[in-house]
Amino acid sequence: MSLYKDWGYTSNPFRPTPIEPTIRGIELLVGREKEKKKLKNRLKNDSGIITIEGENGIGKTSVINGSIFELYEESLLSKDDQALYLPCNQIFQISPTKNLGDFIDEFYFTIAQTIIDKKKEIKENGYKNLKTDNLNKWLNSTIVTNIEAQIAGFGGTYNQTPNESNGFMKSGFKKQIKSLLSNIFPNSESGGIICVIDNLELLETSDDAKRILEYLRDELLNMPEIKWFFSGSHNIFRTFISTPRLSGFINNPIKISHIHSINVPSILNSRINSYQNHVDNKPYCPILDTDFIKLFESLNGNLREVFKRLSAFYLHIYELDKEEPYSQENKNIAFEEWFEEDKNLEFDAIKNVLKDSEIKLLKILSLRETELITNTDYKNINLESISALRTAISNLEKYGLIFIPILENEFIEQNKYTEMNDLLKNVFLSPKSHYIKHLICE
Ligand SMILES: Nc1ncnc2c1ncn2[C@@H]1O[C@H](COP(=O)(O)OP(=O)(O)O)[C@@H](O)[C@H]1O
Ligand SMILES: [Mg+2]
Repeated sequence: MSLYKDWGYTSNPFRPTPIEPTIRGIELLVGREKEKKKLKNRLKNDSGIITIEGENGIGKTSVINGSIFELYEESLLSKDDQALYLPCNQIFQISPTKNLGDFIDEFYFTIAQTIIDKKKEIKENGYKNLKTDNLNKWLNSTIVTNIEAQIAGFGGTYNQTPNESNGFMKSGFKKQIKSLLSNIFPNSESGGIICVIDNLELLETSDDAKRILEYLRDELLNMPEIKWFFSGSHNIFRTFISTPRLSGFINNPIKISHIHSINVPSILNSRINSYQNHVDNKPYCPILDTDFIKLFESLNGNLREVFKRLSAFYLHIYELDKEEPYSQENKNIAFEEWFEEDKNLEFDAIKNVLKDSEIKLLKILSLRETELITNTDYKNINLESISALRTAISNLEKYGLIFIPILENEFIEQNKYTEMNDLLKNVFLSPKSHYIKHLICE
């Protein structure tokens, strides 16, 4: 038996994967009403590429999935308009090493698959003539299966077919998809398929970002039947907007910040309910709502980190030699003990790898939210020169204690910052640093 089964759950409710675009997903998505409304509005108003920005693990992919699914359901229910919004089967990601031709192929295959899967809904919405036999044939043909296999990295090969005919067949396939799309979504009122390119920070340099985006812009991003979401961490869209060719194309990012504390206990409770294994037995939960809030706040609202630590706490309680705590008081005691110990372990680990001056720098970064940092402070940590500061910063970044947006990172490398303060303005504390802040500042 596993811990979670023993305690009455179907499985681990705190797996740090994004909330899915399903009815169950909607139940788990807590405290994002305003954001969902905004995202749905932008989709319905056809306002170009919708961009979403926020720290890793804060809940971007989840809120996108939730909004897309709600809009999809609403468009199925609404009788008075013909708009249909279909979630694309798959979320896309793009990295600097990915072949752009492959990316485009992957896109078309996924769109084809989405149309096939949503055949019934498309017909019910009014396009009664939809025929997907041809698409199915295409998707099951040797050549396409080979291309798909290669894209998925399963070692398929193009060699069986000469390149030209391969290209010809693919272009035929794309044409067919395009024509299907324009039949399903004949005008600007008819909705579309909603696609997401997630984790744009994977494009590690601004040159990559620009090159790829400009290419996609001409190939995919201007298809009227496809509604695009772009999502990425900190300031990523500043990188794109800095290109004149892209600036008009990308609108103001919607910032996703952490969920309001009032809603935080529902995150825990909705998961406990949703993962309950026996109808009449509520699962055992070792953490109090108040302590869950404490954990959430200590990690600056980063849900992925919260779930990671919470799973560790569950395991800790499960492995205790004594009986699990049941009373509120005992649960609180057990939590406090683990919490202090966990933070101390984390702090000891970083003390082992960082220099004294780097820890002092981290302290300054932690304190600056409330205090003004002066040049004397820098002198005190022996980092008077910009280059010494740069080295210290890259070490802190290496150990996951801070993060720096792509463009700023490049500015730092190119020595564009001549004042320490300007440089440090673009450095953000990671959840891990927040977690051990009071130990750093001691
Ligand atoms: N509003 C929410 N309510 C409850 N859990 C959430 C919410 N948003 C995100 N989560 C959970 O938090 C974790 C991180 O969310 P995710 O959407 O993957 O973040 P991001 O895309 O910003 O990195 C996931 O485990 C997800 O299930
Ligand atoms: Mg994500």
